[in-house]
Amino acid sequence: MRLQGNRTVFILAALACTALTACGSSDDAGAPDAPAAGPNAQDVETPAGQASEAAQAAGEPAGELQPAVNDADGDPCTLDIQVGDSIAYSTNSLSAPSTCAEVSVTLTHTGKLPAAAMGHNWVLVPEGEAESVAMAGMSAGLEGNFLPSDDDRIIAATRIVGGGESDTATFSTDELAAGTAYVYVCTFPGHWSIMKGTFTVTG
Ligand code: CO
Repeated sequence: MRLQGNRTVFILAALACTALTACGSSDDAGAPDAPAAGPNAQDVETPAGQASEAAQAAGEPAGELQPAVNDADGDPCTLDIQVGDSIAYSTNSLSAPSTCAEVSVTLTHTGKLPAAAMGHNWVLVPEGEAESVAMAGMSAGLEGNFLPSDDDRIIAATRIVGGGESDTATFSTDELAAGTAYVYVCTFPGHWSIMKGTFTVTG
């Protein structure tokens, strides 16, 4: 009886293997869709400690598109973030020290699609307000940058940019609490649930 029981287990295990193999090939088929690592993936080779510090500050998992979070001039109050022809920001977290009287965030669309098809903006709101602000902005249309007018929840916002365009949002850190999480979101219809990130004022 025990032997038969073991046989049953063996058969079940064999069936499970078949199922897993099927799943495995399906996974393999999907693998090429993963975004290719950008040239910045080689940052690790930079000998100076600065690069690794910057990567650590960005808090991004390895293998994702990693543009410079800060400007090349090293000003921590001047931040860059990129978007392209997909529903994604180049980074899901940005921060600036409280010593910045003002923070500038420049959003650059490196793709080719026009704003009407794949527009993006960068809108800073309190945590938990991303969805409702995006929903409220739907009726404003592209001309209104998909933003509700006179909405106190909007701390800063760029206009909607299309391929090859960029825009900068500048805001004071006085109205932001250090250590508190704020959220940036793209309010282009359908993007808010994916295009989101956290912004924090440090120190
Ligand atoms: Co977008």
